[in-house]
Amino acid sequence: MTYESFTLNEMSPACGGIIEGIDLSQDLTNRQFDEIHDALLDRTVIVFRDQHITPDQQVALARRFGEPQPAAVSGFEKSAENPEVDILEYDADNPPHVTRDLWHTDFVGTERPTLGTVLYAKDIPPEGGDTIWVSTAAAYEALSERMKAHLDGLWAFHNSYQPYDEHVRPEMYEDEKGTDYIKSRRATYRPALHPMVRTHPVTGKQGLFVNESMTSLIKDMDKRESDFLLRYLFDYLRTPEFNYRHRWQTNDLAIWDNRLSLHYALFDYTDHRLMHRIVIQGDVPY
Ligand code: OGA
Ligand code: MN
Repeated sequence: MTYESFTLNEMSPACGGIIEGIDLSQDLTNRQFDEIHDALLDRTVIVFRDQHITPDQQVALARRFGEPQPAAVSGFEKSAENPEVDILEYDADNPPHVTRDLWHTDFVGTERPTLGTVLYAKDIPPEGGDTIWVSTAAAYEALSERMKAHLDGLWAFHNSYQPYDEHVRPEMYEDEKGTDYIKSRRATYRPALHPMVRTHPVTGKQGLFVNESMTSLIKDMDKRESDFLLRYLFDYLRTPEFNYRHRWQTNDLAIWDNRLSLHYALFDYTDHRLMHRIVIQGDVPY
């Protein structure tokens, strides 16, 4: 696809595009926004290099796509300048746990999971800290027709608390405050039920909608049947042909579509890494 407002380099056949020629510190014209939106739908994840914007400008950019959604569960701090911005920060004193991240889509344990995420790289370590995205549409497309027919009409439960369970994240339970917060949220929380094959509300493309971080059980299946099929799908979704791995530069700004993607943050660094994140409210999946 070609665009009038910018140039876009496609980063892998499945997904990923790097955009040059857009300055996000300036108000976007409707024409520019429409083309950026088209690029997002086509590439699933788009990255703008060398951006210099404030938290308020990042919120304004996110709002062109939809309403910012407060995080359902997260251990992350909020920006003092703007509470809609999550601060994702690690350094030598607070290093990320290698192997801690799991492939996920942001906050799918709610009735209306996120439409997308706007992630702004404020400081990137000299090596490590890449992010990988998977096009779940490319993955679905490549399944055999028999498997597609098998998955068609199945629904699964998504549990946002699963990655924050006490045995997974013991440090979150070390002080009273964290424990009380998680416990109080969990008391009223019920896992969300979503179709395992999701249709994108704008493009009509279909994609797998399961992730190993939060998808816990296939409805109407025995636990062992469910585990067997989910295990296969989680493994299948790791196929390199479906992904794009981004090597960040400080001041990159990425926008991705959570409706047809998974992502994984590599926790392979100890130097400082600081990201500003906004997640955007989505619709009920179908
Ligand atoms: C997120 C996330 C990836 C990263 O923002 O939801 O998973 O690389 N971040 O920081
Ligand atoms: Mn995420």
